[in-house]
Amino acid sequence: MDRTEIRQIFEAPDAFLPGEITVCGWLRTLRDSKTIAFAQVNDGSAFQSLQVVLGEDLPNFNEIRKLGVGTAICARGRLVLTPEANQPFELRAGEITIEGPCDPAYPLQKKRHSLEFLRTIGHLRPRTNTISASLRVGSVAAHAIHCFFQERGFVCAHTPILTTADAEGAGEMFHVTTDGEGEFFGKPAHLTVSGQLQGEAMAMAFGKIYTFGPTFRAENSNTQRHAAEFWMVEPEIAFADLNDDMALAEAMMKYVIQSVMEKCPDELAFFNQYVDPGLLERLQAVLHSEFAHVTYTKAVELLQPYRDSFAYAPEWGCDLQTEHERCLTEKIFNAPVFVTDYPKDIKAFYMRMNDDGRTVAAMDLLVPGVGEIIGGSQREERYDLLEARIAEMGGDPGQYQWYLDLRRFGGCKHCGFGLGFERLVMYLTGMANIRDVSAFPRTAGSAEF
Ligand code: 4AD
Ligand code: MG
Repeated sequence: MDRTEIRQIFEAPDAFLPGEITVCGWLRTLRDSKTIAFAQVNDGSAFQSLQVVLGEDLPNFNEIRKLGVGTAICARGRLVLTPEANQPFELRAGEITIEGPCDPAYPLQKKRHSLEFLRTIGHLRPRTNTISASLRVGSVAAHAIHCFFQERGFVCAHTPILTTADAEGAGEMFHVTTDGEGEFFGKPAHLTVSGQLQGEAMAMAFGKIYTFGPTFRAENSNTQRHAAEFWMVEPEIAFADLNDDMALAEAMMKYVIQSVMEKCPDELAFFNQYVDPGLLERLQAVLHSEFAHVTYTKAVELLQPYRDSFAYAPEWGCDLQTEHERCLTEKIFNAPVFVTDYPKDIKAFYMRMNDDGRTVAAMDLLVPGVGEIIGGSQREERYDLLEARIAEMGGDPGQYQWYLDLRRFGGCKHCGFGLGFERLVMYLTGMANIRDVSAFPRTAGSAEF
């Protein structure tokens, strides 16, 4: 079918004058008087809807004017510029085909529904302004991430989803098995919590790699920023230290923000108006400033004056809570901030031990509204230290032999990080709950759609 997308019309309306075009989409609203009706049609190609004017000369006018919201239609007609009206142009329909009527029980009748309600209609909510805008921002951000790494010569590595190693050593894994007897892979297998370990093997061959794929964590924490299934972007770079790692993370974040601001102005304006006033100003400011840096030890010190405002007191040796992270990035630095050199006992086994013997070369990037968005580190490249750390953290070094081998066979200084993709979209949109930036979120007790 010779079909014009609404996005194309908004990009260059003049290209569709004069002549006739066909637009297909779903009715968002229909205002009807006796002799004329105005429909807002959205086809998902753009944030905006197209106004379609339906006149009584249409052969099926009496049927059309009663159509319900949600109906799928195709409209053929002439595009007319209307510079003095609310909308820049409209389609004067000469012919309307009803592709699929919509049952009056369609739940998206009102203009605004609560996000909680929309979660109960996961199959329909991608048709709403808020959810479609956040998913579109996610699509543009995903593309920008690939462009960023590909332009810099990184190799895209698909690391496995089924794995027999616990990449984080945190024991938060889903067990994968069959209905039959025995272990399909000869030993217990899990859904991956991170592609990092295989990413390191790839980095020792290609120098610079990234993985971008689904990861799974059986964390039973019912928070606004944890999901059981989420996507992670994990670059790994050889011959590089923690400062190189942070420089890469900062450049990537700025690249993605820039891209989304360029390509999703309507979506961001919408979020700025209805979801998070100040969003645009904040993103703009981040583009033109340097991220802050602070050690964990210093951060704990800086948090002390705010002690009374927290549910958990910040103490050296304890992991930073979301409330601490947000205080650091929102109140103390008022900017994205890298926290570095965490105590070894609260971080994963693979992080490189610092000379003090108490802290590791770790970095977390904290951003306003979200808290931790990136977790990364320089990796322990010294065989004996790594082996000892695995054992010390309660792991079995034998289970990690291939990973240890990377230190035997031409190992080198290297590092990497993981960016939580849904948290990135939360940051870019100002949306407060991870359930509203993922099309079909999986959280403890919830995998309906
Ligand atoms: O800090 P994490 O656990 O780091 C790793 O997995 C490393 N292997 C990364 C690496 O160095 N290659 O997770 C990285 C990021 C977090 O900063 C967070 O943004 C996100 O992944 N994340 C989650 N996002 C949603 N739901 C969860 N349950 C998440 N757990 C981590
Ligand atoms: Mg982390």
